[in-house]
Amino acid sequence: MKILSVVGARPQFVKLAPVAHAMVGRAEHIVVHTGQHYDELMSDVFFRDLGIPAPDVNLAIGSGNHGAQTGAMLEGIEQVLLERRPDWVLVYGDTNSTLAAAVAAIKLHIPVAHLEAGLRSFNRRMPEEHNRVLTDHASDLLLAPTAVAAAHLSNEGLAEKTVVVGDVMTDVLTGVRDRVAGDPLPDLVSEGDYYVATIHRPDNTDDADHLRGIVDGLAALDKPVLLLAHPRLVHTAERLGVALEGGSLQTRAPLAYPQLVRAVMGAAGVITDSGGLQKEAFLLRTPATTVRPETEWVETVDLGWNVLVAPERDAIVEAVHRPVPHATEETPYGDGSAAVRVVDELLARS
Ligand code: UD1
Repeated sequence: MKILSVVGARPQFVKLAPVAHAMVGRAEHIVVHTGQHYDELMSDVFFRDLGIPAPDVNLAIGSGNHGAQTGAMLEGIEQVLLERRPDWVLVYGDTNSTLAAAVAAIKLHIPVAHLEAGLRSFNRRMPEEHNRVLTDHASDLLLAPTAVAAAHLSNEGLAEKTVVVGDVMTDVLTGVRDRVAGDPLPDLVSEGDYYVATIHRPDNTDDADHLRGIVDGLAALDKPVLLLAHPRLVHTAERLGVALEGGSLQTRAPLAYPQLVRAVMGAAGVITDSGGLQKEAFLLRTPATTVRPETEWVETVDLGWNVLVAPERDAIVEAVHRPVPHATEETPYGDGSAAVRVVDELLARS
């Protein structure tokens, strides 16, 4: 069987890693990189560190407004699909690369499987929410990470196409966690005595009041804060005249995945608006504070390891300084073998 994966943005490279490994010897696997992310630290380093073979095709689309970026991807992916004629197209998560690949494939009557199907924030301001809903309804097979995601799909009339496979990010994390446990921490911080922060959602970065509230909150925390700055944050902060410095704040470049995992393992807490990082923090049992009105990963909140806050200084400080949550043995994100199940499900439909 010939399976073609389309990826383009940082979290998709992480999801691709265990799937690519699980494909070896079982299916012909073609990897297409749209080029949505292209910086060394946003792209190449993930392929290297996670042992993913170089993409078979790189469309090098780059950044742009939603329409221009998604449209260019659609055109590029269609051409690749016409040439390669896969049996299945596998799309990941909720980025513009995901939606473009799903649309390109269905127009050519090639079956589409959506990995990480059924996540919902119910917030239509998020581009990811448009991408998820549209991709789920376009797809032939919905590979859901959790029971909650499967219930959302069922509510939308998609139960028959849905299979719960578990969360592939748990697969990757489990392997990397054990590998990096003894590695050194980032420079200038000591075990348990710092926080890790990432902020990149447009609702937080592109609004001067929100961004100021977040930066002021991070600066006022009781331990050093490593702010691992996504390019979008760096660009918008400069444009809005918000300095990413002061108080406890230490702004740094994004970390490669293994270094990120090590940094989160040693941190007293994580402050983020990233979907993946909230969940990674939970899996590593580091308390998370999420600067968003809602989350797709509701289990992290229900189990007490994640608190949602507004982009306001005092709310952030209060949430981050809360007592450590109660220990839990719950495993809502599966047992670390989701990727094998993904391949099983695709092969069962050859
Ligand atoms: C995208 C995804 C988001 C995901 C995030 C992970 C969409 C709609 N959003 O958001 O779901 O959580 O990736 O990081 O697909 N840039 C660079 N170098 C790069 C990539 C981006 O400088 O390698 C800058 C550019 O100025 C670009 C901006 O970052 O305009 C935003 O990049 P883009 O890919 O449009 O969206 P993300 O914010 O990264």
